[in-house]
Amino acid sequence: MSVTHSSNEAIIGRDDINNIEAILSVTNTDLDEVEHIVKDNADAIFTWDYSLARPQLRKLYEKAKVGQWNATTDLPWDTDVDLEKVVSADQAAIQSGLTPDHYKGTIVEKWGDKEWLEFGIDQRRWTLSQFLHGEQGALLCTAKIVETVPWYDAKLYASTQTMDEARHVEVFHRYIDEKLEGGFQVNAHLRMLLDDIIQDSRWDMTYLGMQVMVEGLALAAFGFLHQMTEEPLLKQLLRYVMSDEARHVAFGVLSLKEVYAGMTDQEMMDRQEFAFEAAIRMRDRFLSQEVWEKHGVNPRDVVPLVLNDPTRDMFQQMLFSKIVPNCKKLGLLDRNDQWLRHRFEEMNVIQFEDWEDTGSEYIKFELGGELPEPQPAAGD
Ligand SMILES: [Fe+2]
Ligand SMILES: [Fe+2]
Repeated sequence: MSVTHSSNEAIIGRDDINNIEAILSVTNTDLDEVEHIVKDNADAIFTWDYSLARPQLRKLYEKAKVGQWNATTDLPWDTDVDLEKVVSADQAAIQSGLTPDHYKGTIVEKWGDKEWLEFGIDQRRWTLSQFLHGEQGALLCTAKIVETVPWYDAKLYASTQTMDEARHVEVFHRYIDEKLEGGFQVNAHLRMLLDDIIQDSRWDMTYLGMQVMVEGLALAAFGFLHQMTEEPLLKQLLRYVMSDEARHVAFGVLSLKEVYAGMTDQEMMDRQEFAFEAAIRMRDRFLSQEVWEKHGVNPRDVVPLVLNDPTRDMFQQMLFSKIVPNCKKLGLLDRNDQWLRHRFEEMNVIQFEDWEDTGSEYIKFELGGELPEPQPAAGD
């Protein structure tokens, strides 16, 4: 039986992945929303098989129990954060994350140091706010996995991840509230993705959307910010969160490897399409259209330039440095005539395919050691 695959239009709502008008038309119009309700469409599954069937997951569970930390007492919350100083130091390190000369002919051309700094401060608030909302997504997804995954070992592990995610929501919220003087509402692209992940009735799709795609990106993004910033509280906060996050991505990779090994081509095609959708939504959200708007810039004038900004391009590619090797390990890149490989080629992120995957790398992220430098896997 031949495999059917959907058009870009059906998967992401537009044919051209770079259609700016379509990207920017997705906006969050209800900024006062307090409660957001999504149907999660899933069966809760009991298992009476308590045998140790999956030692790798049980090992992860043991690691998670001893890797717990207390957000209240383990982080230096009395650190004084001078936002202007911190952001300008970080901007000096990465040229604002954007190349100012690249924006000639737009309103941004006239920006001096002061405007770039104010933009940078909001960009920081926005970035950490989206991390916060994403962490809440992880909290809900992982609680769902406790119910829906049929394996005993995975239920135990997912329960520890649920606690980890509560802690992550706690620390990002506290940092935004106490040190950044407020944050941003959820970005519409991110919310769409979280909704899609939660709504899917198939338990492995929660893992793929959250553990492999969202958390894979988060692990890379946290690593980037951790490496760049000299702000001691944020640096330590990210270091602690990453020690958990690496386990979470490993949980996704180890679980799905087993499931995907037995899937038909059509079932794999559905997973490949979902991975592509998630990758596009996350790329779109990082265009941070709300921050431009807040600073009086029409995103339509700058986003086409942002997409080609060499400084930002480097950052965007790096975001996929965990996702691509993990997708490869799961067989998602090359099944069905390399469908997902071709999508990642179009997104210009395929070069990470032979970097170290996160199946066992999580050990290197444990607290007390030096973080691993992102790099190609040994032997390649
Ligand atoms: Fe998290
Ligand atoms: Fe996580």
